[in-house]
Amino acid sequence: MQGFSREPGTHAPVDQVLPEGLRKIYRWAALIAVGGFLFGYDTGVVSGALLFITRDFHLSAAEQGTIVSVLLVGAMAGALLAGRLADAIGRRKAVALEGAVFIVGTAIAATAPTYWQLLVGRVVLGLAVGAASATVPVYLSEISPTAIRGRVLSANQLMITVGILVSYLIDLAFSGSGDWRLMFALGAVPASVLTLCALLVLPESLPWLVRKGRWTEAREVLTLVLPKDDAERVLTGLRHRDGSHAPRPGWRTLLGPKVRPALIVGVTMAVIQQFGGINTIIYYAPTIIEKTGLSASNSIFYSVFIGVINLVMTIVATKLIDRAGRRTLLLISLAGMALLVALLGLSFIAGWNSELSLLCMILYIAAYAGGLGPIFWVLVGELFPPAVRALGSSTATTTNWISNFAVSQAFLPLAAAIGQGETFLVFAAICFCGLLFVARFVPETKDRSFEEVDAALQARFGRSGPAGEDTARRAGDRSRI
Ligand code: GLC
Repeated sequence: MQGFSREPGTHAPVDQVLPEGLRKIYRWAALIAVGGFLFGYDTGVVSGALLFITRDFHLSAAEQGTIVSVLLVGAMAGALLAGRLADAIGRRKAVALEGAVFIVGTAIAATAPTYWQLLVGRVVLGLAVGAASATVPVYLSEISPTAIRGRVLSANQLMITVGILVSYLIDLAFSGSGDWRLMFALGAVPASVLTLCALLVLPESLPWLVRKGRWTEAREVLTLVLPKDDAERVLTGLRHRDGSHAPRPGWRTLLGPKVRPALIVGVTMAVIQQFGGINTIIYYAPTIIEKTGLSASNSIFYSVFIGVINLVMTIVATKLIDRAGRRTLLLISLAGMALLVALLGLSFIAGWNSELSLLCMILYIAAYAGGLGPIFWVLVGELFPPAVRALGSSTATTTNWISNFAVSQAFLPLAAAIGQGETFLVFAAICFCGLLFVARFVPETKDRSFEEVDAALQARFGRSGPAGEDTARRAGDRSRI
């Protein structure tokens, strides 16, 4: 659990966590990641449902676009509010509340008698998606021992990709009956699971309890995963810790010079993840595939295939992340994405054969899922110091949703204006800039305590003061290996 593996005066590396404790941590991670599943499900389900909604409500193209994009607008607001919420009432209650909002949004959308009511349902769903996307990485980070933090944090993106895939499969299963209400309604099942688990099963995050001075509850949480003696020792260490240098929570601290490198990395990675173009494929795959000359009649089938690749490569990344490290995977991923989306663009411009375009598209998804996809969400949980972690996550996540909205709105008009192939070349250039940014500014966070991550960030931004120089150099050097 973050905060106990490297506390001064305590020695409780991950191998001293009871095996039973580790199993619990994995179980909690799997349960909280249902929030990621709902993110994937509620963003994905609309693609297959739209056809039938359009039939029932006689929608124009613009109205169809609005049904898709209002969720993103809701998500921006939800992500923005989530940081304050998770600091005020705790991570666990915040997630329970978010689960409840998922249920309300699902109910409104699934029973909507009119187009306008459906829009309201989608906005409410968006609030929940956005808020959960900011809270889940924070919680995962705070329950995880350092050595397995990458794997635990990747559970979020893993479940996002499972959610996207399941939503496509549900769309496929109900495409015969065209029952879009049921497609939406099924989302209530995982939403109820999330709410109940947050209320009844999940413990509160240790760092949050410590910051609130709730020592009795902190002890209870620690004894769930550590032998009793170790738990006491860690607790004593935490109590005696000099907290005077810890940043005070608040926007001013987040924007201040100490946390700025983390914020710059978090926000820039959010922009790169979205402006690299991934959701143009996730949202518009059938339209793009049709332009390659292949038949779009199998569009849901292609979507399912893309969903499977996305999931399989995310599993691969989850396995590798705590061994290979975040930087290595990110660099390979961005280099692959830049190359493949450039080839995809050229294949359109030069009119190469359509199977080749499809192959480039699939490999581009694979390159994304093996690195940038999960690692952005891992970094969201790892970059920020505990006191401003929820606010930092909130800011990076809101930026991610704003960028998601911008790219998905701009893609079709841009492709119409400058050409689809040329648009992909723009994405290639952005991935390449992302590669340069990571090489220069993103430190390795694997196996590092938050103090070491901070020192490595300061070193990369050339800001290590005399006191932190040694740690920064050590951390910075290792991060360049
Ligand atoms: C990430 C992105 C999300 C995208 C998904 C695809 O979670 O943040 O926008 O749809 O990956 O797997």
